[in-house]
Amino acid sequence: MTPVKPPDNITTLMEARLSTWQYNLLRGAGQLAGELGMRVYLVGGPVRDLLLNRPSTDCDLVVEGDGLRYAEALAARLNVTCTAHERFMTAVMHLPTGGEIDVATARREIYEHPGSLPTVAPVTLGKDLWRRDFSINAMAVSLAEEDFGQLYDPCGGHGDLQAGLVRVLHDKSFLDDPTRMIRAVGFEVRFGFSLENQTENLLKEALNQKALSYISPERRRDVLLPLLAEQVAPTIITRLAELGVLAALGLGEVVTEPMASVLQQVPPAWAALEGEEEGPPQALTYLALIAHWARTDIAHLSTQIQLTGDEEQILRKAVAIIGNPPAVLSMRNPKLSELYFTLEGLSRIGATALWAVQDDPLARSHIEQFWHNLRDVAADIDGDDLVAAGAEPGPQFGAALREALRVKLDEAPSTAEQQLAAALTHLAKADRSF
Ligand code: CTP
Repeated sequence: MTPVKPPDNITTLMEARLSTWQYNLLRGAGQLAGELGMRVYLVGGPVRDLLLNRPSTDCDLVVEGDGLRYAEALAARLNVTCTAHERFMTAVMHLPTGGEIDVATARREIYEHPGSLPTVAPVTLGKDLWRRDFSINAMAVSLAEEDFGQLYDPCGGHGDLQAGLVRVLHDKSFLDDPTRMIRAVGFEVRFGFSLENQTENLLKEALNQKALSYISPERRRDVLLPLLAEQVAPTIITRLAELGVLAALGLGEVVTEPMASVLQQVPPAWAALEGEEEGPPQALTYLALIAHWARTDIAHLSTQIQLTGDEEQILRKAVAIIGNPPAVLSMRNPKLSELYFTLEGLSRIGATALWAVQDDPLARSHIEQFWHNLRDVAADIDGDDLVAAGAEPGPQFGAALREALRVKLDEAPSTAEQQLAAALTHLAKADRSF
């Protein structure tokens, strides 16, 4: 393919692809910088997405000048609040629409040692672009009135976009910031690109040097989990395994074809087992599956990607049930109580992981039935009803109420009186057995 010369000015593209609101915001941002004697550029992801004709909600601005002073002035003009991070010379504005504007001073970043957080110093736009992760993310567009829309592409990002390549800008890039190894795979898969050859070699070298171990579990989590929430997560996981990144995170050496096809079942599993509640993200279903295959110790996984206590708990239960799927799933007409009591307390992560590993439609339909019709069912009586019926409160109440629930599930339609009778019979039997 003959490379197409990058357009010098992409104003027409911006007019065509941005909403009027976004376009006017950028025009206003440029004017304001002019008033303050500074220059501001749209930079990184949004420029890449404009050129790829992909929607982008990000608004990342870089300022040649005092970025924090500029951010304050922009926030005042937009009448929004602004949070500054002086150490990194960055600020973020939260828009009432839910979007964000990130403002950064054009800066270089110095890494004291591999994976450390950088110290920063102001520089020109050109130098700022060269310190970035990949050429496709190292383009900027001027927002200044005099050359609005001018594309700055010193690192060859436009050519790499056309060639479909993810290319680092210098040999130490992955060592400076090892999260880039994970990001690289995200861009490859999301855009259907490939790692440029030398970039792939550098990534493998950085893996050999155990670069991922230099960064905090929190940073590993912050970059990995959003990727596992994308539609293309199954392909991302397969590619992370192929490159050895997954192994470096303690999540297994290989993703075989059968495993890959189970991963492909996760999005349909989430659709089949919809739930109202806000819960842990879909990413955890993938983690449960790969932790199960790799026999990853969940406590160890947590040291790798900082799981919360709740997440650890959920993953442990999910891994246990997919490793030992209950026999009830293969029964043609199981009792509802059996289904309920076997799957009771299953999280959406556990349920979706279990659904994804089943290739039998019958098993899947049992999981769906539990999820949609059974998991919230409760008996029509409670402990107070047992006391009112003359029972002595005690530890056996729990089992008696489960008996009431069993009657409700298996002997429908049942009345509260029938459930109460079953619970009392159960208590009487328990008494006799002492
Ligand atoms: N960047 C970088 N190194 C990183 C992370 C980010 O150089 N480890 C730079 C890139 O220029 C990137 C920009 O910071 O484009 C913004 O980062 P981010 O918002 O995380 O990514 P985007 O490129 O905007 O991609 P996405 O669409 O995933 O948000």
